[in-house]
Amino acid sequence: MEKWALITGGTKGIGKAVAECLAGAGYNVVLTYASDTAGAERTAQGLQQSYGVKADVLQADVSVKESIDRIGDYLDANGIRLRAVVLNAGLTCREPFEQLQLADWERVFFANVHFPVFLLQRIVERIERGGSVVFTGSLMGIEPHSVSLVYGVTKSAVHALVKNLVKFLVPYEVRVNAVAPGFVDTEWQKTKPAEIRQNIERKVSLGRFCEPSELAEVYKMLIENSYLNGEVIVVDGGYSYK
Ligand SMILES: NC(=O)c1ccc[n+]([C@@H]2O[C@H](COP(=O)([O-])OP(=O)(O)OC[C@H]3O[C@@H](n4cnc5c(N)ncnc54)[C@H](OP(=O)(O)O)[C@@H]3O)[C@@H](O)[C@H]2O)c1
Repeated sequence: MEKWALITGGTKGIGKAVAECLAGAGYNVVLTYASDTAGAERTAQGLQQSYGVKADVLQADVSVKESIDRIGDYLDANGIRLRAVVLNAGLTCREPFEQLQLADWERVFFANVHFPVFLLQRIVERIERGGSVVFTGSLMGIEPHSVSLVYGVTKSAVHALVKNLVKFLVPYEVRVNAVAPGFVDTEWQKTKPAEIRQNIERKVSLGRFCEPSELAEVYKMLIENSYLNGEVIVVDGGYSYK
């Protein structure tokens, strides 16, 4: 029987690494992205060629409400039933507290919290019994974030969602967990100034950023282990504020 996984923000960074890891285990994937269609198609072709799986890409910006139906309609139209849903795409806002606008706060909250909740509500019947949902949380949802107030608070909400959703997903026989990454070497981090990157490396016990592929294995474990439920797995290489 075919295994399908949906990964939001699945064409680059952490989501792409999870897609590669799952494709290597025989999963077909539906990957959503925001705007880089050429990049998304390259990722899909790479997965098809390397692993011989089906890889569909779908433009679906998580800051836009209509993307919920766009994803739901796509799954319905193609009769796709999901073994795994990875709710990974997320936004941040680095405006200083004094300049933070209500619209910025709402945009990040919508993308990181509201969107995955209502996407899940829309597609929950499409998840196979015994399947699972994995959110991308963040270490910054556990340790206070020194730069982005709204990012840290929304990722805390994601962690709380995981715990709270467990009971609501029982009738569907679907498990739900999260990965809380520390600092992962994706474009998100690579665009930071060298001085800030070195400061981060000094605080990580392993002295380096996490490779997306190292993180992806944890998502796969959460998807495939049949008894993990309601967990937030921190993968931070031993981070300390000292
Ligand atoms: N990197 C880290 O250190 C780190 C640490 C903790 C948590 N996280 C979390 O991990 C998740 C992924 O981060 P990443 O570092 O892998 O980011 P990334 O490399 O910037 O990932 C980009 C992927 O997400 C898509 N994307 C970006 N904005 C989107 C939007 N508004 N709607 C739909 N898709 C969107 C991109 O599509 P396009 O190519 O079309 O833009 C692309 O597929 C986020 O939730 C982030 O908060 C990251």
